[in-house]
Amino acid sequence: MTYKKVLIPVGILLGACIGVYFTYFHRPPTSDILAANRQRREHIPDMAGPGMSKLDDDYEYSDGEDDDDVTDFGEGPEAAKLSARRWLKFMDANDLVSIGELYDRCEGDSKIMLGKVAMVPDPVRGGIMARTYLNTTLKKEVSGGEMYIECSYNGKELYSNHWDLCTVEEGMDDRIIFCPIGVGKQKFVKNLEIPSYLPKGRYTTKAWLTNQDEDILGCAFSDFTI
Ligand SMILES: *[C@@H]1O[C@H](CO)[C@@H](O)[C@H](O)[C@H]1NC(C)=O
Repeated sequence: MTYKKVLIPVGILLGACIGVYFTYFHRPPTSDILAANRQRREHIPDMAGPGMSKLDDDYEYSDGEDDDDVTDFGEGPEAAKLSARRWLKFMDANDLVSIGELYDRCEGDSKIMLGKVAMVPDPVRGGIMARTYLNTTLKKEVSGGEMYIECSYNGKELYSNHWDLCTVEEGMDDRIIFCPIGVGKQKFVKNLEIPSYLPKGRYTTKAWLTNQDEDILGCAFSDFTI
């Protein structure tokens, strides 16, 4: 074979690889990813949960506006709205890009918001992380349970799995779950790396925790694009 005959297929292959790389893997700079997710969320108010579409409507906080320690909002639509607005304020005050919410259950309109998922830059490795904030009040000791996760990529189911709740974080440096988890106020912050090898696209995830009696402890929904 002459050089030319070899070089042409090699060139085509190389071109194809570079094309695939730029189409699927080459991510925009971290600041652009953050800006895009901030914008997306602001334009899809329904995704942000009950009462989240506007910060300055006529709703008044009934109490505890300056109290950092509210983790028990009660039940019902008003409580749901109050919880959502508190977390919106928290995200706003800390200038965080929201990519998800945590609730006390997976279904229904009056879900109480227990936390938020923010997209933050990773100062150590570069790239981005998902940071979960959770403030809750446990009414019953947790001595066991499961953690479930379902992920979709560009609208198609990609991955689902479940683990034992008490050991899911075993071996992690920043472990936060140690069983038994006692009753009362619990506040957690957890960073998870969004791996740089993930292809570009839209990721939606649902994750939920159950206790030893298979009661749902909480449910998280997130939605972001990279
Ligand atoms: C959650 O708890 C943290 C730490 O106490 C507090 O700073 C934050 O305001 C709380 N968030 C909400 C929405 O209450």
